[in-house]
Amino acid sequence: MTPLSRVVIGSLLILAWPTAHAADGQKIFTQGGANPAAMACIGCHGPDGKGIAAAGFPRLAGLPAGYLSKQLQDWRNGTRKQPVMEPLAKALSDDEIKAVSAYLASLPAEPVADLRRQQIADDPTTRLALYGDWGRQIPGCVQCHGPGGSGVGEHFPPLAGQPAAYLVAQLNAWRDGSRSNDPNQLMVGVAKAMTDDEVKAIAAFFARPAHPEVTP
Ligand code: HEC
Ligand code: HEC
Repeated sequence: MTPLSRVVIGSLLILAWPTAHAADGQKIFTQGGANPAAMACIGCHGPDGKGIAAAGFPRLAGLPAGYLSKQLQDWRNGTRKQPVMEPLAKALSDDEIKAVSAYLASLPAEPVADLRRQQIADDPTTRLALYGDWGRQIPGCVQCHGPGGSGVGEHFPPLAGQPAAYLVAQLNAWRDGSRSNDPNQLMVGVAKAMTDDEVKAIAAFFARPAHPEVTP
């Protein structure tokens, strides 16, 4: 064996070794985790991970891996409470959480229009989304969630394209205390300052696929 081929084979072995032991994210998504209580995600989050809007099941495809794994850990540590996902998250191992989050983050998501480049309708919901209401200490949602609500970095999740029923449920969860996992309580104040009608309207605003009525 030449020294070069020895190096090549050696590096192949090093590359192959961790994958043989690591959890398989795609398999967890389609078939579930090693513990049968960790049901396959695909059944509720849809074949492409884009969620099932009619049921209020959120999209996971293209969400940041850091955000996804944090949510699963939050169900385990009790700062996020929900009867379906809580036992499921508890049945996943740390390795499985890491693997399935990385897999989901790699799935393609629908493109989101950039609101900054669009003609913005002047209605109260759009104003709240873009500029907030400083009289009530509500910053604009897009200031943290990115243009069009498309998400920013690992910790500010996208709102765009999530089912309206899911977005309403999350804002209400902060209001009733069943979700208290937001870093520095960034969301609880925002959610509590909003009226029921605003919660519904803002959810419908971001749930619209890509603001098709205005072209970039
Ligand atoms: C039986 C249905 C069901 C199955 C199976 C399921 N989920 Fe969920 N999932 C839900 C529901 C319902 C919610 C919304 C929970 C809420 O309202 O807080 C959710 C929410 C989530 C969220 C939060 C998304 C966000 O934007 O914060 C993550 C992450 C998640 N699920 C991951 C998974 C993973 C990973 C699997 C597979 C191992 C899985 N789910 C399997 C029903 C399910
Ligand atoms: C100061 C920053 C900030 C502002 C402003 C903000 N958010 Fe958030 N929001 C966050 C963070 C951070 C999270 C993720 C918290 C976590 O880790 O679970 C979040 C999460 C959410 C979620 C849950 C998403 C999911 O996938 O479960 C919803 C819904 C939401 N925000 C709606 C809004 C709306 C509507 C507004 C405007 C009225 C808004 N946010 C303004 C920081 C912000």
